[in-house]
Amino acid sequence: MNTLLHIGFVGCGSFVQHFIPLFKAHPYVGSVAVTDLIPERRIETAKKHGVTDIYDSFEDMLKSTKLNCIAIFTQRHLHGPLAIAALKAGKHVYSAVPMATSVEEIGQIVELVKQTGLTYSMGETGHYRPCSIFCRTKLQSGEMGEFVYGESQYNHDMRHFYASYQRSGGPDWKRAAAGIPPMFYPTHSTGMMLSSTGSYARKVAAFGYRDHHEDGIFGEGKNDWDNPFTNTSAMLYLANGGIARISENRRIGWYGPQSYITNFCGTAGSYECSIAQHSYVRLSGMDAVYEDVSGLLNPFEMQKHVSEEGFSNAVVNNKWSSTFAPIQNTKRLPEAFIGMPDGHGGTHKYMCDDFCKAAYTGKLSPTNAWVAARYNLPGLVAHQSALKDGESLDVPDFGDPPAGMDVIDSDK
Ligand SMILES: NC(=O)c1ccc[n+]([C@@H]2O[C@H](COP(=O)([O-])OP(=O)(O)OC[C@H]3O[C@@H](n4cnc5c(N)ncnc54)[C@H](O)[C@@H]3O)[C@@H](O)[C@H]2O)c1
Repeated sequence: MNTLLHIGFVGCGSFVQHFIPLFKAHPYVGSVAVTDLIPERRIETAKKHGVTDIYDSFEDMLKSTKLNCIAIFTQRHLHGPLAIAALKAGKHVYSAVPMATSVEEIGQIVELVKQTGLTYSMGETGHYRPCSIFCRTKLQSGEMGEFVYGESQYNHDMRHFYASYQRSGGPDWKRAAAGIPPMFYPTHSTGMMLSSTGSYARKVAAFGYRDHHEDGIFGEGKNDWDNPFTNTSAMLYLANGGIARISENRRIGWYGPQSYITNFCGTAGSYECSIAQHSYVRLSGMDAVYEDVSGLLNPFEMQKHVSEEGFSNAVVNNKWSSTFAPIQNTKRLPEAFIGMPDGHGGTHKYMCDDFCKAAYTGKLSPTNAWVAARYNLPGLVAHQSALKDGESLDVPDFGDPPAGMDVIDSDK
């Protein structure tokens, strides 16, 4: 603890390019290194970010006595085994979402973190989004009463994914990358909902949209997962008695916003969102009191343009969607981050900072292994439920972090 972090980035694709500069600038980071299966990618990435430590392989990184952390940025279905190997080698782990694509792998990661005391943090943007902060803090304050019902979704149409899947999967990109079940990547919708409710899923019942698009990516025998679905919606029965609808949609006539809570209802107050309009309604006796909270939840940059012609059209094209909103506490971030580029609703800097703080201090990140498991598991079970025509299934649970472990409060 209180040892500077020396981080090995595994995977030099597109997403990691946003994170190497942030981790490099973090005051708790001593050095960074990179590797990729494709030599040109690791060399180009190192050159772009002024990194001099280039490893030939992930396995070489595990053998390194200098590196004490591994940051996983490989394709989404490859994270579990890499995280397990890194923890076994005694490294702290930062992982891009998802945590893993099987219940067994998730259980193993939780168990290894418990045994070793190492840090595991999953970089889930949904936890840090303005809508999640709003719903979480209002519910925690007691103002909304008890949570009863919510809806969240991640809408990202395949047509915006083709190029990145081609880069990720090579010539066999449809089979090996694009056809992954949407609920194997559930954490944008679950992360917003579960972090806001402070609860987790006990049961799930889901339906999937059987895709028949001419791109031929989905269907039995057409991809490595035999996955027929582009879209899956699930009803979650939560441990606190509330109910949540989550949707992961990959074939949908929609562009932005992509990851958002549309509806979050308590017994005493409710939040609702449509495009860039954020509404909060509280009960006062038999009457309802309306509050427009758009100025608090929309990014600063977006709000500047709110009365301009074409505002809504720009918002549905994802304009101004990557930066901070007033509700996000930027004062808790390292000074070194000021002026650096961000992304996904101003969330990148928080994901980086919380991992570094956790690994440096020994506290738990807000998206620690136990929380990450609860964000991922409902999706894996939802896919099984959808394959069984909506059968209600129990969601396994690996419990809370051990009592007495201090969790970093991401909102302070
Ligand atoms: N909003 C978000 O949270 C968000 C957004 C984008 C991407 N992501 C996640 O980030 C991850 C990376 O996405 P991307 O678009 O950069 O993918 P990518 O396909 O562009 O890059 C992945 C890279 O990992 C390399 N790789 C695979 N296995 C390896 C191994 N064993 N050793 C070394 N290198 C290996 C590949 O060669 C490839 O260059 C994905 O898991 C994705 O889900 C998250």
